[in-house]
Amino acid sequence: MDTQKKRASFSGRIGFVLAAAGSAVGLGNIWRFPYLAAKYGGGIFLLVYFALVVTFGFSLMVSEISLGRKTGRSVISAYSMLSKNWGFLGVISALIPLVILSYYCILGGWVAKYVGAFVSGSSVAASKDGYFGAFISASVEPLIWGVLYIAATFAIVLLGVEKGIERAGKFLMPLLVVLLAAVTVYALTLPGSGAGIKYYLTPDLSRFSVKTILAALGQMFYSMSLAMGIMVTYGSYMKKTDDIAVAVKQIEWFDTGIAFLAGLLIVPAVFTFSGGDSTLAAGPSLMFVTMPKVFASMGVAGTVIGAMFFILVLFAALTSSISLMETVVSVIRDKFHMSRPKACFITLGLILALGTPCALGFGLWSGLSVGGMSILDLFDFVSNSVAMPIVALLMCVFIGYVIKPESVISEVKISGKFSRERMYRIFIKYVAPLFVAAILVSSVLDGLGILDL
Ligand code: PFF
Repeated sequence: MDTQKKRASFSGRIGFVLAAAGSAVGLGNIWRFPYLAAKYGGGIFLLVYFALVVTFGFSLMVSEISLGRKTGRSVISAYSMLSKNWGFLGVISALIPLVILSYYCILGGWVAKYVGAFVSGSSVAASKDGYFGAFISASVEPLIWGVLYIAATFAIVLLGVEKGIERAGKFLMPLLVVLLAAVTVYALTLPGSGAGIKYYLTPDLSRFSVKTILAALGQMFYSMSLAMGIMVTYGSYMKKTDDIAVAVKQIEWFDTGIAFLAGLLIVPAVFTFSGGDSTLAAGPSLMFVTMPKVFASMGVAGTVIGAMFFILVLFAALTSSISLMETVVSVIRDKFHMSRPKACFITLGLILALGTPCALGFGLWSGLSVGGMSILDLFDFVSNSVAMPIVALLMCVFIGYVIKPESVISEVKISGKFSRERMYRIFIKYVAPLFVAAILVSSVLDGLGILDL
């Protein structure tokens, strides 16, 4: 097990922020956020999401990073070190990345397929209606792309070259932001985008429901890589002199900014190219259906720009899936005292076993659905809307009543001011636990058909 002495650390606050942002920025921002915003009423979803990020997301991220830095341990042992009976929380949070990883890799495969299509010059075909549906419902093709993606993630983690990948990320991530901004400006000048901009930016209160909050809450955990122990591990690598509160604010703005931009591109583009309303609820397919149409409208340049876009998204996804796999591998190693290669192979086996049904769920196994959800949607729902809120709730109870907020606050204050201290104390003790409990109960009652939300 790592000890504080042996533990490597980030070079400074900016190094820490960039590494944490590398994990946070991924498909959650570019693929998941826009489709949720489109589905849950545009502006009203944005409003709820932002409110949650600056209160709840901030409090949880500060907590996780502080726990990690205080204990110098990864999630599996950080909780048990602070209180013997709470080790189970570390174990549950460490299981979530496995579920996410298994479907994240299949989505990564979808992105890889689009890289292949754009690089091989089939970008026009990719922009046609039906292309995406035909691809995901094919019998083996989605599985092949998914396996290729898993193999890439596996090879990087096995060979331990993620440091090189992180370094490359320092150039490629800013490039992604620039490209995203440029394509957004282009798309917003196209006729018809006005209605989309209005839908995306104006909150329509009549679209508000408990489901909006549940979806925004799950998205916040997912996008900020919270409630699964990643930030505890990252915090354990942080120097005692780096300002936690400032670092969290920066990660928060970076992550939310990219998601907002992706939505500003994709939601209005749906209005321009797919006639708005009927496509807004398209869900997971939204980015894959809409973006090729934007690129096709650019003519020849669109093929090159589209190829670059999908390559950069693939890269952002890889940096995230590597951090997910690394977490699972380190948990297996810590728990079962295994060598790195052995733990990597076991993780690979688990991802393949869980990922295969996700890949086949739209084609060969499309008959298989639970509560009207495809297997991929089900995994997404279970991890983001059930498991993460439960972990977050337990974490609030643990900090608010077992180790007390002071232990986090004093850790934050070692390295700087804690301007939101009062909010933090009230939030972690009262508001957050009550809020999450209420949301969870209502969503379960809704699921059981007892309550109609
Ligand atoms: N935050 C990543 C995204 O938005 O795509 C997903 C993710 C990566 C979640 C790594 C958790 C994690 F540990």
